[in-house]
Parts: sequence; structure tokens; C-alpha cells
Amino acid sequence: MNDKKNEFGFSTRAIHHGYNALENQGALIPPIYLTSTFAFPTAEYGAACFAGEEDGHFYTRISNPTLALLEARMATLENGEAGIAFSSGMGAIATTFWTLLRPGDELIVSRTLYGCTFALLHHGIGEFGIKVKHVDMTDMQALEAAISPATRMIYFETPANPNMQLVDIAAVARVAHAHPDITVVIDNTYCTPYLQRPLESGADVVVHSATKYLSGHSDITAGIVVTSQALASRIRLQGLKDLTGAVLSPHDAYLLMRGLKTLALRMDRHCSSAQVIAQYLENHPAVKSVSYPGLPSFAHFELAKSQMRQPGGMIAFELKGGLEAGRHFMNALQLISRAVSLGGAESLAQHPASMTHSAYTREERARHDISEGLVRLAIGLEDVEDLLADLEQALTHSA
Ligand SMILES: Cc1ncc(COP(=O)(O)O)c(C=O)c1O
Repeated sequence: MNDKKNEFGFSTRAIHHGYNALENQGALIPPIYLTSTFAFPTAEYGAACFAGEEDGHFYTRISNPTLALLEARMATLENGEAGIAFSSGMGAIATTFWTLLRPGDELIVSRTLYGCTFALLHHGIGEFGIKVKHVDMTDMQALEAAISPATRMIYFETPANPNMQLVDIAAVARVAHAHPDITVVIDNTYCTPYLQRPLESGADVVVHSATKYLSGHSDITAGIVVTSQALASRIRLQGLKDLTGAVLSPHDAYLLMRGLKTLALRMDRHCSSAQVIAQYLENHPAVKSVSYPGLPSFAHFELAKSQMRQPGGMIAFELKGGLEAGRHFMNALQLISRAVSLGGAESLAQHPASMTHSAYTREERARHDISEGLVRLAIGLEDVEDLLADLEQALTHSA
């Protein structure tokens, strides 16, 4: 399997890449190396590991064979050179920022971002001398105008959490790479590499909350970065090793690899059910608006078709009765759980303004296109007829 890695299809690589059972006592499933440290055959070898002259594992915060297998799988699935595993998505994002940015640098980000990423920017790195500029990244002239000699990074989500706005990855990469010092970083959590591979469109770094679709069962928190070998070495050896220490546990790496094996199957189901539900919601008289990349009414419908293999499993919508109706609707749900997060088997509903995006003030939410009445649905893997029935009865209650 090792030799032909890139000749196989997506799911075959998600299941087999980087592992040969016959080299591991026939164990079909890769062993979990539950060890924090590694014995050196000689003192000289240990010193050479620390000096970077030997590739051997020496401490799990830096590397571990179970993590290395996961990292190699994520790298091949994203079509990048190297991966790094973290204990959460925020661990991956924070480690990337702390490694690649310095006081005096400018970071350009899109208008709408996950709430804790927004908090990290404005209550974290923004207070350490890094200037954060929000730009409407659907407007390439605005992006070009925002770039200054101090700009070192452009960062965005597409689709954005929670309002589903899309950004044209290739267009941003073209503008950014006219400037040699700018690194383009994309949060690909909503899509996974099965639906969208940003590195192929010119991005430099992909970050993930692997807590979501990649692991797929809402039972771990994890993060992933995939990028070039050179940037990965910096993010691992400066960022992960010394700045955050946000390393994934080998046991959770095993669970994440177990989830990856069914990623394509699960994403197909998330997407097909979400398409049916988005259409149902759009036609419902109590619903004011629906944002879903698979609807022809979606503002970036054409971009979604060219950039994403399928429209994903996330839906944002608003009721005609606004915030109050949204609350009644959420409280009336019986099958769909009221919970944050996404990407697991169970369908979830949450209210971004009071939950995932409560780190924004009300005024900031207004400026950043997050409306107070927005409800976010993460469509799971249940029978779509059962989800529709639950939505129907909850919408009847909220009217
Ligand atoms: C788009 C996005 N990025 C990053 C994160 C942070 O990931 P984690 O919760 O694994 O730290 C989340 C979490 O919800 C998210 O939705």
C-alpha cells in the first residue's frame, strides 16, 4: 500500500494509506502507540534526534507513530505534503497563527468566522501586536486594497460558519500570491477534503476542526493542519512543540483514523439529506430564508458548483417570526438535538447568536453578517424522512 499511495482513490487512501499489516505482525488495524516517550539505543542517537539529524520519535508532543500515520493520511487526502495532528481545531488554528505571525504583522480575515476563531483574533493575537483586518472576500478589489507591506497572512472559512457565505479560493490565492510574503490559510472544516481541496486551488495551509466530519462520531476533539513540508516543520517544531503543546492523544488519533475510513460514505449521506431538507425549508411558509450551497437561490450557487464536490451537510435559516420563533422551533425539536458542533451521526440545531458566536457582541454580529434569528442545522445520518417529520412538527409549534 505504501508505494502506490497516490494512485488509489480517496476512500482507499482513507482506509489504507501508509500502513502495511504484514509489517506489523499481521495486525489489520494499526496499533495505538500509547507512549509519551521513546527509548534511545545510545545517548548519541538521542542527541541526534534533538538536533534534528535523526528522524526518530523521541517525545509524543513532537511525534508519535500513531499520529504520524494519521498525519500522512490527512496529507494525502488534502493533497498536501505533510500533516500535523492537534488536540482540537482551536489548537490547530492557534498554533498556526502563533507560528507564522509576529508583532507588527497584519492578518487579513474574512468578515464571518467561527466564534472562537474571532475571539482568538480579537482577544488573543490581536492584543499581541498583530493587526487584524476583516475584509469582504467576495470582493477581490477590496482584498487587494487591504493588502499592505505588513500583510503576512490571509485567513478564511468557506463556507463560513454560521452564515454559509462562500469565498472563491483560487481567486483569493491569485491576489495573495502576487505578494511573495503572504500565506493563504483556509479552515476546511465544513467541507473536508472529500468535498473541497483548497491546496489544489492555490491555498498554502489547510486547518480543520477534526472534531467534526473527519472523526465523524462526536466523541473526540481534534485538529489537523496540512501544508508544505517546510511550513509543517515550522508549525510542528516551533508552534506545537514550544508555543502551544496542543498535541493529539494517540488514542484519539486512532478514533480519528477509524472515522476517516467512512468519511466519503458519511459525507454523501450528509449532503443528500441536507439537500432534501434545505429544499423543504425553502418551501415552508414559516421560513423567511435558507442559506444552503445546493439551492439555486443561494447567492454563490455557481461558485459552490465549481468549488465544492457537493453542497455539504450544514444549513443556516431564519424564520419569519425571527428570534422568538427560532427559540420555539428549537425547543419543539424531538429527534434533532439542541447542541453545538457538527459532523456527527446525530442531527443538531443551535442558535449561533447565543451559542457558537456569542463571543461577538450584538453590534459585531450585525457588522459581520450574523443575524440574531439565524438557526444553524447540522444534518446527521438519520433517515431523512424522520428528520423532515421532526422539522415539520417543530415548525408547526413555532408558527
Ligand atoms: C469552522 C470551525 N473551525 C474551527 C472550530 C474549532 O474546532 P474545535 O472545537 O475542534 O476546537 C470549529 C468548532 O466548532 C468550527 O466550526
